[in-house]
Amino acid sequence: MGGQEAYCCTCLVDYQPFATTFSGAAASSPSGGAPIDPMQLERILRSQGFGSRAECRALVLAGRVSLGGQPVDDPDLEIDPDGLIFSVDGEHWAYRTQVYLAMHKPAGYECSRQPQHHPSVYTLLPRPLLLRNTQAVGRLDVDTTGLLLFSDDGQFIHRCTAPKRALCKVYEIGTRHPLTADQLAALLDGVQLHGEAAPLCATACEQLAPCQLRLSVTLGKYHLVKRMVAAAGNRVETLHRSAIGGLTLPADLPPGEWRWLSAADLERLA
Ligand code: URA
Repeated sequence: MGGQEAYCCTCLVDYQPFATTFSGAAASSPSGGAPIDPMQLERILRSQGFGSRAECRALVLAGRVSLGGQPVDDPDLEIDPDGLIFSVDGEHWAYRTQVYLAMHKPAGYECSRQPQHHPSVYTLLPRPLLLRNTQAVGRLDVDTTGLLLFSDDGQFIHRCTAPKRALCKVYEIGTRHPLTADQLAALLDGVQLHGEAAPLCATACEQLAPCQLRLSVTLGKYHLVKRMVAAAGNRVETLHRSAIGGLTLPADLPPGEWRWLSAADLERLA
């Protein structure tokens, strides 16, 4: 799926016609933002990733920006951004001080902005979010699917990835060979990986079928799960991340799609 496709098929706001406020999406920092002063429309657009000052002014002057369903032509219009819904070229957006979203990463996408051999997950996000410097929270391998968070809030990204926080990640794994009791015990007791000072342990390990495993880990290291399973004497064939902390990949979010995180979602990551 190309970026333009994702832009069109993804709901950018829980929009109700003529609503002046929105709900169901986190509009402010999870740490709780201070009240926001009225801002010029052009500044609001800039803060939301619609380009430079000149580009945002031009958007408004060209009649491409609407408020409450009505085009506006004054880029200097002062507006209270809190809870603001606006549209650009008919696409509805809610003002957000920060970006927090969950993607269902499909297989065949790299998490890098400069991918080597496959398309980047960033092509699945709309351009304004990229211009806001929205970044993936950690990385998944190109063949791994599942829950991938994105944000433009550096502190949030740090909190989610800091080893000290030890945020739990849950993976559903298909293995090449039937799992043995010894392999499960090794994963829980600790496996020695090349280049690591001490054995690394899973925090939970549940066999779901002969070749199916659910594994929880708190570390975030390169190819961690694949290396752990290999060190236990098996091999990962398929890998899917189903949860981070208390946040589970929404069952109705198809591969390649994303959605805003709600305040309740963010609580589940706290
Ligand atoms: N561990 C891996 O080996 N790969 C991933 O993509 C994530 C965790």
